[in-house]
Amino acid sequence: MAVEQTFVIIKPEAVERRLTGEILTRFERKGLKIQRLAVTEISKEVAKKHYAHHGDKPFFPHLIEAMTSGPVVLAVLEGDEAISQVRNLVGATDPAKAAPGTIRGDFALRLPYNMIHAADSPDAAQEEIQRFFGN
Ligand code: CDP
Ligand code: MG
Repeated sequence: MAVEQTFVIIKPEAVERRLTGEILTRFERKGLKIQRLAVTEISKEVAKKHYAHHGDKPFFPHLIEAMTSGPVVLAVLEGDEAISQVRNLVGATDPAKAAPGTIRGDFALRLPYNMIHAADSPDAAQEEIQRFFGN
């Protein structure tokens, strides 16, 4: 069991729907610790950098539009196997396929509006924490 840090973005549609507390509660109940937390807006430039690996996908423009449409909540979470634990709580990318009981399965209906981003590897987590929180 390795203690890890992971990074999440509670997306604009979730903040707009007042689901921030509900989502953070799920991570806390699981036993993860909130290490850093911020409310901010993401610029188009930063959103494009964050999703650069999807730059050639047909959904990219719509995704950037959605991520920059309002305030987001950024969090660093820590705990045993935090990266995979958080991805499990978040659920499958497509909310139409995400299992009930997961964040996306319970609160979202269709792409790109799946409520939350979560880092998918240790390297991605560290890069994203650096990008959004610095040091
Ligand atoms: O967020 P996750 O890592 O589960 O999925 P991804 O494949 O890295 O895609 C990033 C984001 O792009 C997703 O969270 C969706 O918001 C969006 N997306 C989309 O709109 N349509 C797709 N077919 C795939 C992803
Ligand atoms: Mg991803």
